Amino acid sequence: MRTQVAIIGGGPSGLLLSQLLHLQGIDTVVLERKTKDYVLGRIRAGVLEIGLVNQMRAAGVAERMDKEGIIHHGTVISYGDDQIGINFSDHVDATVMVYGQTEVTRDLYAAREAMNGKIVFDVEGVQINDADTDAPYVTYTVDGSEQRLDCDYVAGCDGFHGVSRQTIPAETRREYEKVYPFGWLGILSETPPVHDELIYASSDIGFALCSMRNANLSRYYVQCDLSDKVENWSDAAFWDALKRRIPEEHADNLITGPSIEKSIAPLRSFVSEPMKWGRLFLCGDAAHIVPPTGAKGLNTAASDVHYLSQALIKFYDNGDQAGIDGYSAKALARVWKAERFSWWMTSLLHRFPGQSDFDFKMQQAEVAFLKDNANAQAVLAQNYVGLPY
Ligand code: FAD
Ligand code: DHB
Repeated sequence: MRTQVAIIGGGPSGLLLSQLLHLQGIDTVVLERKTKDYVLGRIRAGVLEIGLVNQMRAAGVAERMDKEGIIHHGTVISYGDDQIGINFSDHVDATVMVYGQTEVTRDLYAAREAMNGKIVFDVEGVQINDADTDAPYVTYTVDGSEQRLDCDYVAGCDGFHGVSRQTIPAETRREYEKVYPFGWLGILSETPPVHDELIYASSDIGFALCSMRNANLSRYYVQCDLSDKVENWSDAAFWDALKRRIPEEHADNLITGPSIEKSIAPLRSFVSEPMKWGRLFLCGDAAHIVPPTGAKGLNTAASDVHYLSQALIKFYDNGDQAGIDGYSAKALARVWKAERFSWWMTSLLHRFPGQSDFDFKMQQAEVAFLKDNANAQAVLAQNYVGLPY
């Protein structure tokens, strides 16, 4: 089989790239290790920056998002009962869209299928070969039969545990990492959201986040120990932990119910440089991870897709190589700013095991400064809604 761009991974990065390239007449094949149902079963991000919203529109997959997504003009940062309203519209004249990653992925699959896009599920043993030559190819096994896919370029959109990043020789690659000493325990419940904006809550006993998917579907998280197991957290224990971390006004209004999903995510900051090696590009979680505080994971994957799709479209249109050559530097410049913001929000709002009294005072002083300082709020708003591409 031959294609122009072989895409490894059928998560949001791979599917969006495939769809954007297809609309410009560029042929792609997507290779996905899991089944479609498995990919759609993962509950992940919930907040879309305008850059991703616009790409969904450009990709012709925005109809349901524009109908069902919820525009948010601000968010709340709380510390104990103290609340700071960060109004995006006032500070930076921008908004975000609350629409789940699951739905983004579902819409992209529907569009790829409607256009007969080639997606191969259940692939095993994917190997990227000769990426440092002019004739790369990908080998893999599906249904027990070995396959070879020749291509011009390979896009590694296969997430943190994929093969693409490992294909870049260790001596060429430099990895930067920070692992946080806690995780997030998240639940989904068919209950109305506690508030019409997201609440990022810091408290003496740890962080909590109140988010949502729609008027009757809430997504809540609490900071947990790395050693915690989902089985050890009853729904009642979760609701109790959440109530004790959010302002009383909201705790009193919280409507609880059975969880329909419960999972623990570890928190990590990670960047691998460069994001291009020969004819292989890395995109999204394959190249970088952020802790979820600030909702930058999916959105940073989307900015990579923007730079890469634009570079490939120009190349196939008129042979212009500049975007392709400059992809890694351009993507990384924005990635590092998202890393900084996520690290800052994580550091500001969580309790760290063994945190000194001094460090605790520093967090409190920073929250107090944010509360009284419109400039600091504007900086938060600017980063939260997303830096320009
Ligand atoms: P992925 O979504 O990881 O997609 C990669 C795809 O590649 C997967 O479908 C995988 O099955 C496939 N794949 C992997 N290896 C291979 C292989 N060898 N061959 C073929 N296919 C392969 N972000 C937020 O902003 N907010 C959140 O609340 C949030 N929660 C998260 C919770 C968890 C548990 C995780 C892991 C991430 C979370 N994120 C969150 C981050 C966000 O979901 C990711 O940034 C986003 O999914 C990145 O998209 P991607 O397409 O680059 O990678
Ligand atoms: C969600 C997750 C986040 O990490 C975040 O910052 C905001 C929202 C969510 O899953 O809804």
